[in-house]
Amino acid sequence: MRPLSAHYDSPSEVLVLGASGFLGRHVVAGFSAGCRAHARVAGLASSPALEADLSDEAQLFALLAAERPRALINCAAISAPAVCEGDPSAAAAMNTSLPRLLGEWSVETGARVIHVSTDLVFGGAPAPAGGFKEEDEPSPLSVYGESKAAGERGLLDVAPDALVVRLPLLYGSGLGTSRGASEDLFATLNRGEVARLFEDEWRTPLPASVAASALIELCASPARGLLHVAGAERVSRLELGHALHAARFRDPARAARELMGCARADLELSPPRPEDTSLCCDRARTLLETALPGLEEGVAIALASA
Ligand SMILES: NC(=O)c1ccc[n+]([C@@H]2O[C@H](COP(=O)([O-])OP(=O)(O)OC[C@H]3O[C@@H](n4cnc5c(N)ncnc54)[C@H](OP(=O)(O)O)[C@@H]3O)[C@@H](O)[C@H]2O)c1
Repeated sequence: MRPLSAHYDSPSEVLVLGASGFLGRHVVAGFSAGCRAHARVAGLASSPALEADLSDEAQLFALLAAERPRALINCAAISAPAVCEGDPSAAAAMNTSLPRLLGEWSVETGARVIHVSTDLVFGGAPAPAGGFKEEDEPSPLSVYGESKAAGERGLLDVAPDALVVRLPLLYGSGLGTSRGASEDLFATLNRGEVARLFEDEWRTPLPASVAASALIELCASPARGLLHVAGAERVSRLELGHALHAARFRDPARAARELMGCARADLELSPPRPEDTSLCCDRARTLLETALPGLEEGVAIALASA
C-alpha cells in the first residue's frame, strides 16, 4: 500500500469530472485551493474548466493524457432516472462504460480513482434493519440504478484499488443548478404550490457539502472497494421536507399548509421508486474524519451554506 501522502500532494493534482453538476460544484468548492475541474461548458467551474464529452472514449483519454492527474473524483453521470429510462444507451455510456475506462486508465497510470455511485443500486429487496451494507447485493429497479450498479462492477473488476462511494439523496444549495432535494422543494413552494412528499419512501439523506468533504478526504486515503457515505438518520421524504421547511421558515402553520404527505401509490411513477434505500455507514465512520450528520444537524449545515 502506498503511503497516504503519495496519493496526491495538493488539490491541483486532483481532477474533478462533472464539475458543472450539483455534487461536482460542491466538490470543487470544497477544495480550499483550486483543483482541476472538468465541465462540458467552460466557465461553469471555479477553476479554468477543461472541456470534453466524456461519453466519447477518444475525448476522455485525450483529457486524461493532457492533464495526467494523480487523483480523480468522478461526479460525471446521467443522474436523472427519467433521462436514463428514456435513453438507456446514454446512461450506459456515462454510468457504466466511463467508470470501467477510468479503472483501466488508473491501473495503467497508478492514479487514484474515486467514483461516485448511488443508493439507488438498491430497492428491489427490502432494506435490512440499520440499512444496506457494502456487502449487500445490489437490486436496482430502474435503468439508472442498473447502469450505476454495472458501472461499479466494471470499475472494481478492472481496478480493485479504486474506491466507489455510494451516496444517498443529497440536499443543500444547488450552487447555481436547480438540482437537489431542497432546491426542488423550495422551487415548488416559490411557485405557490403545495409540496406533496412521500410518507412511505425512506432514505438516509446527506447535505451535498458533507458528501463533498468526504470525497475530498477519501482522495488522500487508501480506502478501496465499496463505501457507503450517508446521513445518520433514516427519514421519509415528508420528514426531510418538514425539517427543511422548519429550518428556513420557522412557521409550523405555514408548513401544515404547504407540505402534504402522500403515498408512492398515489402517483403514477416511472421508473418505480424504491421504498427504502437507507445506507449503513459503519465502515465510513471508521475511515472518515468528516462527520455524517443526522437530519436536524444536516439541514442546519445545508441551509447555512445555501
Ligand atoms: N444528486 C443526488 O441526490 C445524488 C444522490 C446519490 C448519488 N448521486 C450521484 O452523484 C453523482 C453526481 O450527481 P449530480 O446530482 O451532481 O448530477 P448532475 O447535477 O446531473 O451532474 C452530472 C454531471 O455530469 C456531466 N455530464 C453528463 N454527461 C456528460 C458527458 N457526456 N460529458 C461530460 N460531462 C457529462 C454533467 O455535465 P453538464 O452540466 O454539461 O450536463 C454534470 O457536470 C452521480 O454519479 C450520481 O449518480 C447523486
